[in-house]
Amino acid sequence: MNHFTGYLAIHQLEAELERELEIRKIPLKERKGRLFLVEGDAPDMIWAQVTARNLQFIDITSIGDGAKKLKALGRNWGLFTVDHHRRAQLIQDELPKINQKPIPFRHPLPSLPMGFWTLWEPNRILATQETNNPFPLGEMDFQEDKVMPPSRAYLKLWEFFTLYAPEEILGGRSIDVGSCPGGWTWVLRTLNFDHTISVDKAPIEKRIMDLGQIEFRQESAFGLDPAAVGELDWFCSDIICYPERLLNLVKRFMEHGLVKNFVCTIKYQSETDWEQTLKFLEIPGSRIVHLHHNKHEVTWFLKGAL
Ligand SMILES: C[S@@+](CC[C@H](N)C(=O)[O-])C[C@H]1O[C@@H](n2cnc3c(N)ncnc32)[C@H](O)[C@@H]1O
Repeated sequence: MNHFTGYLAIHQLEAELERELEIRKIPLKERKGRLFLVEGDAPDMIWAQVTARNLQFIDITSIGDGAKKLKALGRNWGLFTVDHHRRAQLIQDELPKINQKPIPFRHPLPSLPMGFWTLWEPNRILATQETNNPFPLGEMDFQEDKVMPPSRAYLKLWEFFTLYAPEEILGGRSIDVGSCPGGWTWVLRTLNFDHTISVDKAPIEKRIMDLGQIEFRQESAFGLDPAAVGELDWFCSDIICYPERLLNLVKRFMEHGLVKNFVCTIKYQSETDWEQTLKFLEIPGSRIVHLHHNKHEVTWFLKGAL
């Protein structure tokens, strides 16, 4: 039977996914709203909030039949609708409830797969249990800390560590460049990293400094000497700068061979800088994802560089 790979584009960033498919020469078969379908198997896309593999069309005769057929495939289902909203919701209501409450940081990830489905036509479901994200439609929400972090940027690092960094590799010596007002530095500090070097041209908040074990350097990250910084378990960057500048900085640190893991936000001006983005992807073993907490920016990471 034919199967499809489905990509759910990020709201208002649909053009980025369209362009990415073109760049990767993956022909689009069909599109419904933010849902892009390609035939057969295809790789994960940066600009998809969820990738749904092995999508199958399933004919149904009624709402009850639809729910029964979905339940036969799996327990958890994230629904995406473009049309037929009410009928789709009535089917969803007959499926086991999924916990959609925001989770605390470091909460264990859901153990069951999270399916993806849509009502393609009133009597035709498109569904799969194979997705690349354990949260419905890839939308992960945290119980936010409204007291300590001085900005909401910390949510990106929370999400990255939750989804992509196992506990064993969290800790050690880290650098956070472009750290002001201190959200990421706060995350690293709360994870009991032994020592965090925090670098920005502007100072981080005093209450973050007061946590201790933070060495703040008020200078440009681009002037840092990797040899003088020394061995690092994590190189973290949320600097606002041109992607090319960040790439040069990352490469300089890589060349010294003193950094185990990297996580960096690649920020764009009005247009996505594809040329530099693809250069980041050429770094062997690295990946780029668009986190739920990223806006018009993406997260590049490389684990186990040493
Ligand atoms: C989005 S903010 C970082 C937010 C931070 N991650 C947090 O969680 O609070 C980007 C920062 O990059 C800093 N920045 C821009 N150019 C820089 C440079 N050359 N060196 C160091 N920091 C720089 C800015 O001062 C700004 O504070």
